[in-house]
Amino acid sequence: MKAMDAGTLTEPREGLHARPHIEVEVQQQSERQLPSRDVVFSIRDLSVYYGGFKAVRNVSLDIFQNQITALIGPSGCGKTTMIRCLNRMNDLIENARVDGEVLYHGVNLYDKRVDAVEVRRRIGMVFQRPNPFPKSIYDNITFGPKIAGFKGNMDELVEQSLQKAALWDEVKDRLKESAWSLSGGQQQRLCIARCVAVQPDVILMDEPCSALDPIATARVEDLMQDLKSEYSIVIVTHNMQQAARVSEMTAFFTAEVQEDQDRRTGVLVEYDKTEQIFTNPSDERTENYVTGRFG
Ligand SMILES: Nc1ncnc2c1ncn2[C@@H]1O[C@H](COP(=O)(O)OP(=O)(O)OP(=O)(O)O)[C@@H](O)[C@H]1O
Ligand SMILES: [Mg+2]
Repeated sequence: MKAMDAGTLTEPREGLHARPHIEVEVQQQSERQLPSRDVVFSIRDLSVYYGGFKAVRNVSLDIFQNQITALIGPSGCGKTTMIRCLNRMNDLIENARVDGEVLYHGVNLYDKRVDAVEVRRRIGMVFQRPNPFPKSIYDNITFGPKIAGFKGNMDELVEQSLQKAALWDEVKDRLKESAWSLSGGQQQRLCIARCVAVQPDVILMDEPCSALDPIATARVEDLMQDLKSEYSIVIVTHNMQQAARVSEMTAFFTAEVQEDQDRRTGVLVEYDKTEQIFTNPSDERTENYVTGRFG
């Protein structure tokens, strides 16, 4: 199992430069594939504010390693807010504030000693709209590793990353072409490859297929199944079938009026095995949502 402690997160630059050769990393990853439900994130009593507005209230849940966890719920219930807490992307939003704890392999991500840049390398993110850099396909992949001081073989890293994102065969003869010359579905897989290239532990995906057609969506869903043996994946999706198809665990959120707030606040209604959420939810609000009776 990959050791993960406060020290490695709080000494990021040294840790990265001392990063062992890529083979060592691959071996560490295969050791992680033991059957287990190791916890990656332990979210404890998490509330998120934008200024005085409480967007998400008192969420507690555990996210498991090498599984796909889906966050579902109506628009505005705080799914993006929640997923952004998992790699401190909320730090980049001026008026956002987080209360409570997000333990990542037991380390509080919001501990003052934790380096947010290192957090975002280990916990990568793929966004709703594919957002490759205006650079070549090759340079999109090498950008992050170069910044991180990667000293290994770049060509190999590019090939491995594109292979993992199931894009290699389609782009291997055009690596120097602009990433923007790719189709939307290819661009999204390139963004996944770019994320994988910095050897993350977790991949966060916020509606990664909403800009894609059904064929590209199916490819990304297949890819997620391939990737979960090496990574833990958290996905936000509005597509119920997608959550049911790809995830092991599902968290259902909704937005409710609270006594002390003018606007609706996001709350976690139910978190369980995906099958349970979709076939036998314990809360009526979940049932109404997954059966499409939600307004
Ligand atoms: N940067 C921000 N500043 C102020 N309020 C925000 C900000 N981002 C989100 N909010 C508010 O927080 C609440 C939750 O928003 P969030 O984007 O997390 O919802 P969501 O579940 O992802 O919705 P959707 O399904 O539409 O993407 C909403 O009321 C939203 O208006
Ligand atoms: Mg959102």
